Amino acid sequence: MKLFGKSENDKNPDGQPVTANGAEETKMTETTDSSRSHPELKLISGQQISQSSPAANQQPVKPAPKKPLVPDVKYVIAVASGKGGVGKSTVSANLAVALSQMGLKVGLMDADVYGPSIPTMMGVKQQPQVTEQRQLLPINQHGLSLMSIGFMVQDEQAMIWRGPMLHSAMQQFLGDVIWGELDYLLIDMPPGTGDAQLSLSQIISLNGAVIVTTPQDVALADVRRSIAMADRMETPLLGVVENMSYYINPSNNEKVNIFGSGGGEKICQQLNVPLLGQIPIDPKICECGDLGTPIVLAFPDSSQSISFKRMADRLIVQVEQLEQEEELTIQ
Ligand SMILES: Nc1ncnc2c1ncn2[C@@H]1O[C@H](COP(=O)(O)OP(=O)(O)O)[C@@H](O)[C@H]1O
Ligand SMILES: [Mg+2]
Repeated sequence: MKLFGKSENDKNPDGQPVTANGAEETKMTETTDSSRSHPELKLISGQQISQSSPAANQQPVKPAPKKPLVPDVKYVIAVASGKGGVGKSTVSANLAVALSQMGLKVGLMDADVYGPSIPTMMGVKQQPQVTEQRQLLPINQHGLSLMSIGFMVQDEQAMIWRGPMLHSAMQQFLGDVIWGELDYLLIDMPPGTGDAQLSLSQIISLNGAVIVTTPQDVALADVRRSIAMADRMETPLLGVVENMSYYINPSNNEKVNIFGSGGGEKICQQLNVPLLGQIPIDPKICECGDLGTPIVLAFPDSSQSISFKRMADRLIVQVEQLEQEEELTIQ
């Protein structure tokens, strides 16, 4: 499938045809008019397909090609979680803004092709420009470079993707978008530990993954799966963000642990991974996302924003620490 880009025959940077999990690229058929909003977009819609294949978790992972797809990006970081609705996009959006407020150049790629929320959260809905070389220019908003499938299709269009399509879409979102020079490119992942995660690790060598969870036990079980996935992808785990961690009662400023407490801390200790941050559940965080200005930008001095900024600080420490460790290993 080709969303846009130079050639019909997708090749990865090794010159191999693009496949997911070793499967052959499947010829795409367009079963709805979902491509109308973007002439280059070929989507498939209908009953069949997608969802992560259960087998994906057992298959060996082909390592990412060494030749970088985004050569001018210093760090590529995936924001992932085992399940949806835990706040990946909220964390990605606020993390991206917090990093950019530190003077870093930041891009945010919305890889959640099933439910892209970056256009809403960043308050922008315009079609990206296509260059003469048929590459896409990211949308600039709030000081960030953004790309999302949501810029190209209508909100209500159901998007059902099977593995090879997903693989191809992600490859194009990385290789056929002019990201330019960036310090950080964050990738807001679709939920799960299946095809999308596997594809990404085959397409690009990630500098690390951030796992988002909520304090409930179920979510923590998901973190364990995500961590196992990061292991299989040979992607360093930068840490865990516990979202909706607690609630501050506005009448007396008391911290209320509505979902129980200590889940994130416990799992981080157990698994020996850093806890990057604990973000409160707060209507303002949700509201700001819905209105298109992440809270870190809308209310930079609020306690909620400070918790996001602390998380960004810790992330940078982790990334740099990891880099130093890698340099030491190479020497
Ligand atoms: N800390 C939070 N406080 C309040 N609402 C939140 C918080 N984090 C996320 N939300 C809301 O929960 C919903 C799901 O969050 P989202 O970031 O879209 O999750 P995901 O990307 O994991 O599916 C959104 O409506 C979002 O605004
Ligand atoms: Mg999301």
